[in-house]
Amino acid sequence: MRTHHLSVKIENKTARIGVLGLGYVGLPLALEFSRNGFHVTGFEVREDLVRSLRRGLSHVADVSSETVRDMTRAGRFHATDRFEELRAQDVVIICVPTPLRKTREPDISFIRTAAKDISKYLRRGQLVVLESTTYPGTTRDLVLPWLERKGLRAGRDFYLAFSPERVDPANKTYRIFNTPKVVGGLTPACADLACRLYSQVVERVVPVSSAEAAEMVKLLENTFRAVNIALINEMALMCHRLGLDVWEIIRAASTKPFGFMPFYPGPGIGGHCIPLDPQYLAWKMRSMNFDPRFIELAGVINRAMPKHVLHRIAEILNTHRKSLKGSRILVLGVTYKADVSDVRESPALDVISLLRETGCEVAYHDPWAPSVQVDAVRMRSKPLSDALLKACDLTAILTAHSAIDYRRVLKNSKAVFDTRNALAGMTSPRLFRL
Ligand SMILES: NC(=O)c1ccc[n+]([C@@H]2O[C@H](COP(=O)([O-])OP(=O)(O)OC[C@H]3O[C@@H](n4cnc5c(N)ncnc54)[C@H](O)[C@@H]3O)[C@@H](O)[C@H]2O)c1
Repeated sequence: MRTHHLSVKIENKTARIGVLGLGYVGLPLALEFSRNGFHVTGFEVREDLVRSLRRGLSHVADVSSETVRDMTRAGRFHATDRFEELRAQDVVIICVPTPLRKTREPDISFIRTAAKDISKYLRRGQLVVLESTTYPGTTRDLVLPWLERKGLRAGRDFYLAFSPERVDPANKTYRIFNTPKVVGGLTPACADLACRLYSQVVERVVPVSSAEAAEMVKLLENTFRAVNIALINEMALMCHRLGLDVWEIIRAASTKPFGFMPFYPGPGIGGHCIPLDPQYLAWKMRSMNFDPRFIELAGVINRAMPKHVLHRIAEILNTHRKSLKGSRILVLGVTYKADVSDVRESPALDVISLLRETGCEVAYHDPWAPSVQVDAVRMRSKPLSDALLKACDLTAILTAHSAIDYRRVLKNSKAVFDTRNALAGMTSPRLFRL
């Protein structure tokens, strides 16, 4: 009966939707529901973000401030830090961070706090969906007990599901609406409601048999990427030893119409997902006395890439009779991937730190990151002038932002070390590729 009530509200878009955590994942999702006619409340613990969103300013590159303002004006979106408003929601979607502790163990404290906050205001008929990436079992073993602590039962009094977020920041082709959404419920009624909900905003919903299956799908996707990036990074090391150009090898291998999928090497992996998510699975499996060898090996290889970049830079300087110590290095691009402003876990920060440890003088340019913190030092992006390029002993391209004129970079640099193949098709004795 209650399921029916909520499904009608979902179908006629009168269901009120609360999104907990307005970051890279939560804000775009909240506004996607708003754009589709729902009334959405965004819950955020950071007061500065609540304030700026209320002023109509977006802090996420994939969401324009105009959209925030339009949806706010239409009365379909507002941000708040007043968690008592949770009671008024029909649906609550959790998009809080899932970082790692220094020990590389999962830090699920944000999910725990979110579950605790929701449990205070949980009422009959509500649907709660966890979207944060986490280890299999989190929805049932961590979130469910909090929500059931006052006697309400999932599948009967309220509904609980897991649906992994698949946001790919800066991807212009695949947005929320055309990226299929995987959904797993605690019970069939939970799954059914969550599928109905997402069907309102995405073209295709993919139900799986349980919340654990949905949690594992996300971990397979991101472990697949971490392992394949590690494989291609190791290929790059092997190609360098063999005097081969790994980019040429990938390009040619990609012509195989079946059974091959290109991945690209680089200075390491970054962002909130690929370096972290597989560790959630590894941790869970270790707790079950299972040794997740692929994940461990991929982590070791990917984490060693910044050191490899340092060695290559030393090699290149050496050919110019220079040592690392005292050399001036210009780093181009410090965000974890091209055309985003996110520097979380960015390998470029590790490379800068290593360069400085060896006595290099490091400057950087990044149109997306005006300043970054490396160890204890705050650095500021320098304007990319010909004079700067000429004054440095080497330019290291660590992130290939599309706004940079790479021909000009090559023309004015004493040496370029390109870890991203940003200078594809160009040749020069001053150009060195990963
Ligand atoms: N960033 C991505 O590209 C991406 C892609 C897919 C999945 N994910 C996953 O989605 C989840 C969120 O990632 P993100 O990148 O959006 O993180 P984020 O740090 O950008 O945003 C999370 C937001 O939640 C807020 N928050 C923390 N605790 C809260 C609470 N109790 N109540 C309300 N707000 C709270 C934080 O202040 C922050 O603004 C993570 O599990 C991540 O692994 C991220």
